[in-house]
Amino acid sequence: MKSVAVLPGDGIGPEVVSAALDTVERLGLPLDLRFGEIGWECWRQEGDPVPQRTWKLLEETDTCLLGAITSKPLREAEAELAPSLRGRGLAFVSPVVQLRQRLGLYANIRPVTDLDHGRFDFTVIRENTEGLYAGLDFHGLDTALWNAVRHHPNAEASGAEDTSVTLRLQTRFGIDRLLRFGFAYAEAHGHRLLTLVDKPNVLRNSSDHLRRRLEVIAQEHPGIETEILNVDAVALWMVRRPERFGVLVAENMFGDILSDLGAGVMGGLGLASSGNIGDHGSYFEPVHGSAPGMAGQGRANPMAMLLTVSQMLDHLDIPVPAEELRNAVRAVARARTTVTYDLGGNSGTRQVAEAVTRQLSAQ
Ligand code: NAI
Ligand code: MG
Repeated sequence: MKSVAVLPGDGIGPEVVSAALDTVERLGLPLDLRFGEIGWECWRQEGDPVPQRTWKLLEETDTCLLGAITSKPLREAEAELAPSLRGRGLAFVSPVVQLRQRLGLYANIRPVTDLDHGRFDFTVIRENTEGLYAGLDFHGLDTALWNAVRHHPNAEASGAEDTSVTLRLQTRFGIDRLLRFGFAYAEAHGHRLLTLVDKPNVLRNSSDHLRRRLEVIAQEHPGIETEILNVDAVALWMVRRPERFGVLVAENMFGDILSDLGAGVMGGLGLASSGNIGDHGSYFEPVHGSAPGMAGQGRANPMAMLLTVSQMLDHLDIPVPAEELRNAVRAVARARTTVTYDLGGNSGTRQVAEAVTRQLSAQ
């Protein structure tokens, strides 16, 4: 029996979680679902979007299924706190960033599949902890940073005070574990090609570092072909020839942008699932947010959440139901008779989930 911390969160999160779990119940899986709280309401009431009891639940369970979480700018966050908590300097720190950092979830996995025709099936694996989003982001430079950039003609014209710099951090530790994860993922999912997404034409030294590590780690996985492509070319090919890709591995920012492009290629946020995985923990969530404008109306597409559950089942090594669930979602999406507004229909969240349940029985 595997245990799952279920954190429905905010907005449409609880709606899609509840609809998807009703469908999953149908599969009669050996899962112990344990519900917990996270997100904006926790922040408002308790001044902490990830309360201690939720961290404890995450420690006690094998993985986590997350709905969606509302985040707002700092000033709004303070203003929405319960009156007794205001003025204490409490800071709203993004719960998903907290989860990724504290649980060491370095790989963000986003499958991109053609639900209608099965023409393409690739996965973007984004590095989650370093790269351009490592947090080395400066405005107004100290002497060391200024000395590094002062010879750029634009810097000279602006001065240290009016120059900003973001560093792209790449460590052998971070690169190697990501590449090993990428190769293992490719092998486990039957992909023969691993594409390293980078910008070797321009970022010569850091790209050369990546290339050398790829050459080393690739020797451990002789069955997988590798290539290095420029990120801009990958963006073009993802739209024009998505079927050419298998597993794409990218640093944090390149992966961030490409995985949203992947969601677009797939048909939108209503279909895109994701997992965040480390060596000692994981959580799974749809790519979409809490869509506050749509919350409470029962109109959200539950397919992203259903596909997220299927991704989680794969990770928990329950592959047959995972595949059945994916196929059922595909069939309902393809038929287009019971789909939400974003796929051109007028069915609600529950109706779509029920159509997937019926499809599961028919399969
Ligand atoms: P969003 O993903 O919530 O919504 C963007 C657009 O996509 C909206 O037009 C929405 O109606 C549509 N959409 C989203 N999910 C859908 C679904 N399941 N079915 C049909 N249509 C769907 O992004 P937005 O509006 O930028 O952010 C809203 C809130 O969500 C913010 O507080 C943001 O911080 C948070 N957010 C949370 C994420 C997370 O929990 N990991 C990720 C992205 C945003
Ligand atoms: Mg993004």
